[in-house]
Amino acid sequence: MFERASTIIRDGNKLSFDYVPATIVCRAEQQRTLETLFRPLAADGRPCSAFLTGGVGTGKTVTAKRFCADLARYCQQHNRLLDVIFVNCRIRNTEYGVILEILRYFDRGFPDRGFATDEMLDSLKKHLELNRRPAVIVLDEVDNLLRNNSRNLVYQLSRFSEDLPNPSTLSLIMISQFSVAEMLDEASMSTFKRANAVRFNRYTEDELLQIINARAAEALEPDTLLPPEAAMIAKQAAEYGDARFAIEILERAASVAETEPEGNICPDDIRTAGSSVYSDVSEAKLDDLDDNRRLALLAIARAIKDRASISITAAEKTYAVVCEEYGVPARKHTQFWTYVQGLERNGFVSTEVRSEQDGGRSTYIGIPNIPPRELAKKLEYIIDRDGAVAEEREFS
Ligand SMILES: Nc1ncnc2c1ncn2[C@@H]1O[C@H](COP(=O)(O)OP(=O)(O)O)[C@@H](O)[C@H]1O
Ligand SMILES: [Mg+2]
Repeated sequence: MFERASTIIRDGNKLSFDYVPATIVCRAEQQRTLETLFRPLAADGRPCSAFLTGGVGTGKTVTAKRFCADLARYCQQHNRLLDVIFVNCRIRNTEYGVILEILRYFDRGFPDRGFATDEMLDSLKKHLELNRRPAVIVLDEVDNLLRNNSRNLVYQLSRFSEDLPNPSTLSLIMISQFSVAEMLDEASMSTFKRANAVRFNRYTEDELLQIINARAAEALEPDTLLPPEAAMIAKQAAEYGDARFAIEILERAASVAETEPEGNICPDDIRTAGSSVYSDVSEAKLDDLDDNRRLALLAIARAIKDRASISITAAEKTYAVVCEEYGVPARKHTQFWTYVQGLERNGFVSTEVRSEQDGGRSTYIGIPNIPPRELAKKLEYIIDRDGAVAEEREFS
């Protein structure tokens, strides 16, 4: 058992989803923007902020982690210390949970009950003051928090530094799939400038190829992934523009190849890996959507049936029916259109403007990657499983 040495994978850790490479390829522009935004902090400890947005797998988390680690190292080299506190708001999706996680960074034994959030914020302020050095809090997947009506926390944190003496400043990096304007209210928006937005676009096929090659060079034995096979992975992942998808195909293809005698990854390994990742990933991506977007997507999937695409007007009619079925109010046209655009960014739907016979123009929506019936079934399952819509139904 285990005696056969690995022929393909040299270092499996480098393929794990939370590995942070030393260099992040294809994100130089975002890294430069972050550097510009955080120059005041690096120079003399003044508080800064940034809001990172983009679809799933566009490298937001990994870029933020790389940036914070580099920033902390830079400060250290200049004889200043910096605390970085990373909170995933999908796991801690309440105000209380997030503050507790932050407090525990300073005080590991902070009790998990008995304190109101205001008291906890005061306690955090005291820690920062005593600490006498800047802190950066990263709120990853912050949309989960804002959705739960926890805007107040974001507002409080964004203004924290006003009462704190330098160098005890608090800087904030927020990461979300959706745009700042969509997530924050007016008050928080005013402290959190629109200009601090950093956009992460979906990766092109060529960018994915660079990411795959960089990761293969770190994780695999030399010459086990050859250019035609690397190109195949990039092509498969390009449908979503999602690097997570690309790296998972790479990992599974490498594991399959490991069991075979050839000593390198061949096209069939990638086909096998691709189809297994494909069904998992689409489910994981559906998990990431909130109820409103799930309902909008369900409506589109049901309306489309076996056609290639449908008009937005037709989709909206089905959307009204779906909302009624689940007992939630249907959103207005502009909001529905925002959902469709978000779904397009995540690769679930595609849109196209077409000229009509009467001379007008209308938008058509298609579902390019998943059979619509399959998609509808998965969505119905997920919505029922999570039950949030059902609860709302009871109260309305
Ligand atoms: N530009 C890149 N260079 C190297 N690896 C990347 C890059 N972008 C994403 N990845 C990898 O792809 C996966 C998904 O990236 P992640 O940062 O988690 O995406 P997001 O937070 O936007 O959903 C991670 O394993 C990450 O390391
Ligand atoms: Mg992320």
